[in-house]
Amino acid sequence: MISRRKFILSGAAGVSALSLRGRVPVPDDKNTDIGTANKPVVIATWDFGVAANRAAWKVLKNGGRSLDAVEAGVRVPEADLKNVTVGKGGYPDRDGHVTLDACIMDEQGNCGSVAALEYIAHPISVARLVMEKTPHVMLVGEGALQFALDNGFKRENLLTPEAEKAWKEWLKEKKYQPIINIENTSFTTERLPGNEYNHDTIGMLALDATGNLSGACTTSGMAFKMRGRIGDSPIIGAGLYVDNEVGGATATGVGEEVIRTVGSFLVVELMRQGYPPEEACREAVVRIAKKKPDMAKQIQVGFLALNKEGEYGAFALQKGFSYAVCHRERQDLLIRGKSLY
Ligand code: GLY
Repeated sequence: MISRRKFILSGAAGVSALSLRGRVPVPDDKNTDIGTANKPVVIATWDFGVAANRAAWKVLKNGGRSLDAVEAGVRVPEADLKNVTVGKGGYPDRDGHVTLDACIMDEQGNCGSVAALEYIAHPISVARLVMEKTPHVMLVGEGALQFALDNGFKRENLLTPEAEKAWKEWLKEKKYQPIINIENTSFTTERLPGNEYNHDTIGMLALDATGNLSGACTTSGMAFKMRGRIGDSPIIGAGLYVDNEVGGATATGVGEEVIRTVGSFLVVELMRQGYPPEEACREAVVRIAKKKPDMAKQIQVGFLALNKEGEYGAFALQKGFSYAVCHRERQDLLIRGKSLY
């Protein structure tokens, strides 16, 4: 474990003065503490990351591989029918189809991804198989479904009665109006009774006992999206990126803006230059805000990062972003992420 100061100093050679200048000041900049954990450690976006981390921890605490941990972890919200933004139970597109996006990346830079996948409850496991069993990185739509079925995945209806009800409600106005921290619902009325989740993509990063990093990211995407719309989550470098020499990053929020900045890759490259995780996430958020200042005030984008030393951090455009941390001392830590606005 190394201190923040030491880390900055150790990476200082790579940080140009230019890149550290001109950042947009943030209101809650006083507290610059960052988290550090001895490996193994797993972190995940949003409140539902706590339950997901617990599943990942079962793998990590016994010396398991980070890749197995992140897959096991994100399968929890994928299976949670109350979660309207990930997996089965996710809100459908504007035509009523539940289409899922996911990607996974291991310590060797291998990666797999599926986009616009229908009828399969665990897209993350299909993404892993794309990585492990095909010469490709990404399969989409019909082809991804065919691949999943050929590999024994069960075809099932992913549209729950609750999600269908919400979709029919949305059809009355057909209005796209992202709500901060509820981007994936794009839903102008109250969330469904009994639905405790109002959040977004799960992105998870793990550092295992051997010091290897992996990541996973999975979502049902923006609710009531256009048919065929794909966000950042299945796109390597946007929704997720892992470089085992440096660290990993993942994103949540309005995927279009994450794609435009190749956000997760940017965060990892900033960490390579010596930025601590939180600072790297902040810089990526600031780039989004600089490009479209008016729009950035109305949407949420958050980044989460973990470096090779077990240091972690996050930063979001708006208040309300949370992330969960799990390591030997604390298995259920939930941290309120800092924000630009
Ligand atoms: N971040 C998830 C999406 O925009 O689809």
